[in-house]
Amino acid sequence: MIGHVPARIRLDAERTAIRPLGLRDVDEFTAAVVDNRHHTAPWEPIHAEAHYTRAGQTETLRRDVEAWELGTGYAFSVLDREHGDAIIGRIALGNVVQGAWRNATLGYWTASALGGRGHATTAAVLICEFAFDHAGLHRVQPAVIPRNIRSIRVVEKAGFRHEGRALRYLNIAGTWEDHEIYAMTLEDWQARER
Ligand SMILES: CC(C)(COP(=O)(O)OP(=O)(O)OC[C@H]1O[C@@H](n2cnc3c(N)ncnc32)[C@H](O)[C@@H]1OP(=O)(O)O)[C@@H](O)C(=O)NCCC(=O)NCCS
Repeated sequence: MIGHVPARIRLDAERTAIRPLGLRDVDEFTAAVVDNRHHTAPWEPIHAEAHYTRAGQTETLRRDVEAWELGTGYAFSVLDREHGDAIIGRIALGNVVQGAWRNATLGYWTASALGGRGHATTAAVLICEFAFDHAGLHRVQPAVIPRNIRSIRVVEKAGFRHEGRALRYLNIAGTWEDHEIYAMTLEDWQARER
């Protein structure tokens, strides 16, 4: 299935949708990234200052399009259907590996102003639908810092299984942080209550 996933796919739930980010999104997406800088920075790797500029996000979106074509990553914007499909975040499958693993890592953020409305949880379920029903993956794996209570709730509500704690797993905001590893496999996906 590598490299043959349709780029125009959009998946919808009641209040939330996801669709791939494209270069046409750069102004709206950059504004969301800048607005949420202090909300996301504690939970992300340290970014160069360019990350918070139009030029930096143009490069990010260009790399997203390239990764999609190569089948190495699938990045989506999170849309708020109740506010005219406004871009309110990003959710992405990364480190996509085919062969015997067919695994991807999962990362996401949603706007602080719209927190607690279920957008991240719904987006996580929608991207699993994409991973298993459209991209031919077998396993999706989020990793969450134990003190990130909101994100722990997101993965639990979305139906991921807790697998264990990986020590010093990712460098987040300048520190090698332990992470709780969660996963969902195709079998979990097919068995879950809809
Ligand atoms: C974590 C994040 C994605 C959650 O987004 P969201 O759209 O608010 O998520 P949801 O509404 O689906 O669920 C959030 C849950 O956290 C809970 N929550 C919100 N604020 C909270 C707080 N201050 N303390 C504890 N729980 C909180 C909500 O009540 C909800 O749980 P519930 O349904 O059991 O009540 C968002 O806050 C974010 O982008 N954070 C910064 C980046 C980040 O941490 N990314 C994830 C890295 S693994």
